[in-house]
Amino acid sequence: MRRSVSFSIAFTLFLLPLLLGLVETTSPNSAVAPEGLFVEAAPAHFVRGPTVNLVTNSSALIFWRTDVPMNATVDYGLETSNLNLTVSNTTVAGDHRITLTGLAVGSKYYYQVTSNGTTSDEYHFKTAPADGAEFKMIVFGDNRPSTDTAPVQPQEYSDLVDLVIAEKPHIVIMTGDYVQAIMESHSYNLDAWERFTNITDQLGHYAPIYGVIGNHDTGAYTGTLHLEYFFDAFEMYNEPSPYFSFDYAGVHFTLLNSEEIDNPGRITGTQYDWLVDDLTDTSRSMKFVFAHQPMYPLQHIKSALDRNMTEMNRLQQLFEDKNVTLFAAGHDHLFNRLTVNGVVHIIAGGGGAPLYSTPWGGAFYHYLKVDVRSGQVDFTAIDISGATREQYQLPYDGPIEIEARFLANNTLKRNGTLPQFYFSEIPDEVLYSWDGGSNSTTLTGFPDEPIEHTLDVYASDSEDLWSHERFLFNTFNPDWPTPTTSTSTTDTGDPPPPMDIMLILGIVGVVSAIVVVIILVRFKRN
Ligand SMILES: [Fe+2]
Repeated sequence: MRRSVSFSIAFTLFLLPLLLGLVETTSPNSAVAPEGLFVEAAPAHFVRGPTVNLVTNSSALIFWRTDVPMNATVDYGLETSNLNLTVSNTTVAGDHRITLTGLAVGSKYYYQVTSNGTTSDEYHFKTAPADGAEFKMIVFGDNRPSTDTAPVQPQEYSDLVDLVIAEKPHIVIMTGDYVQAIMESHSYNLDAWERFTNITDQLGHYAPIYGVIGNHDTGAYTGTLHLEYFFDAFEMYNEPSPYFSFDYAGVHFTLLNSEEIDNPGRITGTQYDWLVDDLTDTSRSMKFVFAHQPMYPLQHIKSALDRNMTEMNRLQQLFEDKNVTLFAAGHDHLFNRLTVNGVVHIIAGGGGAPLYSTPWGGAFYHYLKVDVRSGQVDFTAIDISGATREQYQLPYDGPIEIEARFLANNTLKRNGTLPQFYFSEIPDEVLYSWDGGSNSTTLTGFPDEPIEHTLDVYASDSEDLWSHERFLFNTFNPDWPTPTTSTSTTDTGDPPPPMDIMLILGIVGVVSAIVVVIILVRFKRN
């Protein structure tokens, strides 16, 4: 009997989480209860939106979805509560797409939509400013749930969306991995994506959102891409394609697909050829490129766009040749900026999915704010508490930045390989020094002795300004190297001698002075 009671209690405890999970799974709206400053209740039969999409300096597409076919009207205007302009579509449909045209450049418009007498709340958006004028872009992503058993969006994503709304951005780019997985069950997939759009559309009321597709957004488990869910979540294509480009306020935007079913983690073949043409044909001096997988990952080392180094180097060279300003990605659930030969590489993957820890840091939930103004670009990483975590500005006029990455077998991380160094611009000269030894223009292999080793790296720019970073490597522990323990120093002229030599010289000098004093004292006594 006691055994039976114990079994019943244990069985109940086992079932309870499953039942709670089932309730979560079958009640999409319960997981995304509206909260926050800008969240307002939608009429019962408005399934999606309204959202503002494909915004130019003179037009915008308003999208919303009703649960049964209805007619559609958008009222809009330049003043709140005075929506004196109207566009209607008498075609009865469930998905409503109405394009507003003839809008004023760089202006704030208020709008609301009506279907069969039911009217939405009033929202607003900004048309694109004139080419070269100031605008604000937000980049974030990797908000996916941590498990596919209950595809509930992380609270952190909802909190970040509220912060991004408060930023009042002109445009938003998302870096992929919006759901945990696409499964065989269509109802599961609809539920998972609905949980994502329920939150994302709250931001979409106010700003156009473009997204790249992530590996979790594809049907990797099912063997086909299943792009239909991704396409349905983002109203951004005239001709559905997972890669495309557009111009906004004088900047050329290119969004790539790093998840081709036959070539995951590669930009190759037809898409690469298209990319070359796309970056060649544009006359815009500023170019922003986006994909889900980064080229210089911190966590997915050798399993992002760096899995094929020949193709990755080709891509980097293309970006340098075409003066690409920014390449932003996600995939690694962290923030990182690495400037390689003038191309700013940013990983903005802290949108809510479980964070990744690396020796390089950056494991915090965040969004990236990009302020573009007359040839100047300010990058600011802002965490979920609203605190600024990193700032960077272009044009950059500081000393060359030196960063280390480890190109290694992803299991061994280090053994038998050399670290790879990246410079924020192409240096005039580079010098290396292992363990305070003499400087060399070539990087030799790790010293054999199984102790911690230091590697000083010096780089000079065209003005003979030298940068210096010291890296600490632990060659007996098959762990990741400690990236750096030094601060960057700059100087003109020749690179400074290795720090260890300076230290030794200092010690020798002090000891010599003491010996001389002792000899003099004894000589005097005698
Ligand atoms: Fe990913």
